[in-house]
Amino acid sequence: MFIRNAWYVAAWADEIADKPLARRICNEPVVLFRDADGHAGALLDMCCHRGAPLHLGQVTERGLVCGYHGLTFDRTGACVHIPGQDRIPERARVRAFPLVEQDAFLWIWMGDPAKADPATIVSYPWHNDTERWPHKHTMYPIKSSAMLMVDNLMDLTHLGYVHVSTIGGNPTIHVEAKMDTVRTPLGLKFTRWMLNSAPPPTYVRAVGFEGRIDRAQMFEFIAPGSILQLSAADEAGAYKDGLPEDSKLQFRLFHGLTPETDTTCFYFWSTANGFRPGDPATTEALFKEIAAAFNEDRTVVEAQQARLSELGESTLVDITTDAARMHMRRTVDRLLAEEAQSLAAE
Ligand code: FES
Ligand SMILES: [Fe+2]
Repeated sequence: MFIRNAWYVAAWADEIADKPLARRICNEPVVLFRDADGHAGALLDMCCHRGAPLHLGQVTERGLVCGYHGLTFDRTGACVHIPGQDRIPERARVRAFPLVEQDAFLWIWMGDPAKADPATIVSYPWHNDTERWPHKHTMYPIKSSAMLMVDNLMDLTHLGYVHVSTIGGNPTIHVEAKMDTVRTPLGLKFTRWMLNSAPPPTYVRAVGFEGRIDRAQMFEFIAPGSILQLSAADEAGAYKDGLPEDSKLQFRLFHGLTPETDTTCFYFWSTANGFRPGDPATTEALFKEIAAAFNEDRTVVEAQQARLSELGESTLVDITTDAARMHMRRTVDRLLAEEAQSLAAE
């Protein structure tokens, strides 16, 4: 079960150039492509003629051409050309999904198109601020549900165990971090403070911290699958009601989790370098460090999914550090219930 009346990241905008791309989203086969004007479109990946997947075709001036008998479709899913005949039957069309290009993402709406309001898309302006926040991005296919990956990002006590050699460091620091949490209509925001703590290896490699540091992680979860993160650190003692604007280390991460199937998902993520923005080598090094850390997450979460698929969840126990994770799950469950109710009412 997925929330359908919501915007999900379907792809990075730069993934779609002159070839169609097949991607299963919320268990539906979708084909993404760009028309001759450069506008991206998303259609059901099945031709309305004989059912061939449209991603096997190609993009021409006229639109997306099915690779079987050449029917051609525009971004709205309308058939605009049939080889050998002038009349195009009324029913010759393919379902189109609302798709919006914004902040380097292609956002897709898998629910009722009448409810798709682009104003509700998560805003991430830092992707456009290449001077102050130069970024790099990628996508990891993950063999776990999207929710297990969101769980992972809502309970950062895993850093001291999963990410010992990268962004983690000492487990006690993470368990004892002071946490300020604010609930929001579509999720929550929390900040974790780790004052006067030992810097993790990634931080030492990034800016050469020698002594202890004041460190903060700010997270915002926006249902169903976006997490906005700002991490900052400076020498111990720098903290005064917050860390300084020009802290020695500052980076932003975007995490977008999009369901593929019930037990697989796409992890769209980016790293933005806010501490040495003029230095491309730093932007690159930050991306590499985080890529290594997220591979560590992938390993543990995929193994977790395999166990849960085999043995179920009924015997699992919640602990104190699950509070943010549990609030996230309750929010998602509430939105799922609201969607089911409004569908039933219609
Ligand atoms: S199946 Fe697509 S044109 Fe025939
Ligand atoms: Fe992690």
